[in-house]
Formats: sequence, C-alpha cells, structure tokens
Amino acid sequence: MKGIILAGGTGSRLDPCTRVTNKHLLPVYDKPMILYPLQTLINAGIKEVMIVSGKGHAGHFLELLGSGKDYGIKLSYAVQEKAGGIAEALGLCEDFADNENVVVILGDNIFQDHFDFSGFRKGARIHLKKVEDPERFGVAELKADKVVKIEEKPKKPKTNYAVTGLYLYDAQVFDRIKRLKPSGRGELEITDVNNSYVNANSMDAQFVKGYWTDAGTFESLFKAAELVKKTRK
Ligand code: DAU
Repeated sequence: MKGIILAGGTGSRLDPCTRVTNKHLLPVYDKPMILYPLQTLINAGIKEVMIVSGKGHAGHFLELLGSGKDYGIKLSYAVQEKAGGIAEALGLCEDFADNENVVVILGDNIFQDHFDFSGFRKGARIHLKKVEDPERFGVAELKADKVVKIEEKPKKPKTNYAVTGLYLYDAQVFDRIKRLKPSGRGELEITDVNNSYVNANSMDAQFVKGYWTDAGTFESLFKAAELVKKTRK
C-alpha cells in the first residue's frame, strides 16, 4: 500500500511562526511535526510516500527529508497551489496511487498508536477517537458500531467520536473527489468524501489506542509536545 501525507494549507493559525518555515516543519518537542505522521506510516510498513505541500517554504521539506533514503523509504512530492481543502490535496495524488489502495494521513496529526493496514481491501476506513472537544473536528455518528453519518465541525455534536486525520481508501476515491462541490468555506472537504463512502455502505471505522492530537493551533501544538515528551521511552 502507498502512503500520502497531506501537508498543504497555509498554517495561518500558527502565524508568525509560519512566516519563516512550513507549519509541518515546526517542532513538536524534539522533532519537526511531519516526522510523526511519517513515522506512523513507516511503522505500518509503508515504503512509498507522497507528500503534498503548499507553496510556502516547500523547499524546506526537501532539506529535511530528501529522497527518503535516510528513512528507508521512497519519497515523492506534489504541490497544492492554494489551500483548496484536504480532498483537493488528495486529488493531486491520483497518478501516484496508480489504482492501488492508499493510506492518507494529515501532516499535523500525531498518533501514539501503531497500525496494521494489511487486512484492508476495498471501500474506506476512518479512525475514531473519543475527545472532549468534538466540535473542533469531523464527528462520527454510530449505530451499533457502524458509521451512519459524519458531520464536519458541528455546533452540537451528536457524539464525542472525532474522525482523526488517518484514512484508508480504495482507488475509487479519486472519482468521488471529482464529483465534490466546495463547502461553505470554499474547500473540497474530506468529510464529504467520507460521507460518500458511508452512503455507499462501504465505510468501516476503528478506534485509535493511546493519545491522538492535531498540532495546528498554538494550544494543540503545545499539547502535542507535552504528550510526546511525557510518553517518550
Ligand atoms: O485533525 C483531524 C481533522 O482534520 C478532522 O477531524 C476534520 O474532519 C478535517 O476536516 C480536518 O480538520 P481541520 O480543520 O483541523 O483541518 P486543517 O484545515 O487544519 O488541515 C489539516 C491538515 O490537512 C493540514 O495540516 C494540511 C492538510 N491540508 C489542509 C488544507 C485545508 C492540505 O493538505 N490542504 C488543504 O487545503
């Protein structure tokens, strides 16, 4: 299976730090942010990874990661011209995916858990985590362990189950992205992609063990660093 790290967007919530480097290269405790999602993919045995970055300081990714040789993987890069949404960034990876299943991780998501994707065949899979502040995330509604709907940042969340930034998709995902319309915030939403799989009855969900956090705001970036430091063996 191939891996994709989505590291586009503008990082405006981390201004002024993002004036001098890319959001995904800011430190989380003792490492640049992107090394955490990259390690999650490496731990799952992924050997080929595409990184989609925004235009801001995109060259800095190459300085850190190069060809991927130092990490025992093969890296490729794509550039998302504007922050048109997570699904738009994923849409840029169609040729890279080459009709295979893909694992997609957001460049600001930090997981303690280790994953095994080997049983995944078709459809889509999301990874859920019970949180205190579900209104900040995509939120899944479940009926007897089955996802019936996902709402993006609902004002009144129906559950506490956040949809984390780790997704498995079959090759159909690219046709589904082409059928999307931009949301109210002008982005192609990953939640709309996921709901298209829910409606087709081909979405599976698993719960994440250990901590999970994003790191896209100063609050969550600080929390991420604390979690990493506290649990580092
Ligand atoms: O962290 C998990 C959450 O991520 C999910 O629960 C939400 O359903 C999902 O929409 C997303 O929410 P955010 O609003 O927190 O996403 P954000 O705009 O902060 O983007 C997260 C990462 O996605 C970012 O670090 C890089 C990538 N991204 C984002 C955008 C908007 C792109 O590659 N391109 C983009 O245009």
